Amino acid sequence: MADSRETFVNHAFVAGYPIKHSRSPLIHGHWLEQLGLSGSYERIEVEPANFPQFMGSLKDGSSGFCGGNVTIPHKEIACRLADKPDELSTELGAANTLWRENGLIWATNTDGAGFTANLDDLAPGWEKAERAVILGAGGASRAVIQAVRDRGFREVHVVNRTVARARELADRFGEKVHAHSLDALAEVTVGAGLFVNTTSLGMDGEQAPTIDFSTMRDGAIVTDIVYVPLRTPFLRQAEEQGVATVDGLGMLLHQAAPGFERWFGVRPEVDAKLRQMIIDDMESHP
Ligand code: ATR
Repeated sequence: MADSRETFVNHAFVAGYPIKHSRSPLIHGHWLEQLGLSGSYERIEVEPANFPQFMGSLKDGSSGFCGGNVTIPHKEIACRLADKPDELSTELGAANTLWRENGLIWATNTDGAGFTANLDDLAPGWEKAERAVILGAGGASRAVIQAVRDRGFREVHVVNRTVARARELADRFGEKVHAHSLDALAEVTVGAGLFVNTTSLGMDGEQAPTIDFSTMRDGAIVTDIVYVPLRTPFLRQAEEQGVATVDGLGMLLHQAAPGFERWFGVRPEVDAKLRQMIIDDMESHP
């Protein structure tokens, strides 16, 4: 068959293992309907051992997809197997968005763009500070560190229980990024303009450490990439201390937009209706 992009356009996927809890189909389904487009976006469970074969079927066109999202545990291998991973995903070593073009698989990572778009939307001017503090050095922190560094913060302090993991990220992301253990948290938070929680601390009713956010600079923002619950213990503490907060749900919504535009040709909008729809879904299927 001729290699025509047209043949495959308008069918996209989210691949993960497990995948049944992904809310991405709800987000893309909402946009497809809102924009009157006749595409599809479906969940596909791909076992880790089968992922290379899945990438092969995307590449040779036999899957019928023009692209899609990949999520845990496939983000690293997707980046490795893609023919054309972009600079962002290459530095992260992880991709979440794939598309097929001229018989090749292209890849990017939109998590960082989702993070910054959410703050641009809900806290304009958030990036006008010198110092950012990022709590956590797991997989989810990487895109946040990269995005914050790239938005011009001069100092990005990564604080983690296991300091070796923070050091590894400081080495990866360059001289603006500094690694610390948890006992340095209070000190590095002084004068910071942005605090981001990227850890699972405080999820599922677990105890979160007490943090003094009142030492942050005027106009500082505290945000969390965790969005279940929406008001995490970190956000609650910041509010109680009179510091502005942004919850993490918008990051999930905004990271989806670039992929949608790539596969379906229209930039979708992240609006209050979409946000409410996801909140309702989280309440009915926790
Ligand atoms: P993800 O890929 O979702 O970020 P992860 O790689 O398991 O998940 O990372 C989870 C993050 O939460 C890490 O920064 C982890 O700290 P360690 O690197 O020391 O493990 C942090 N974290 C999880 N539970 C924690 C706890 N009880 N106290 C402090 N940090 C914790």
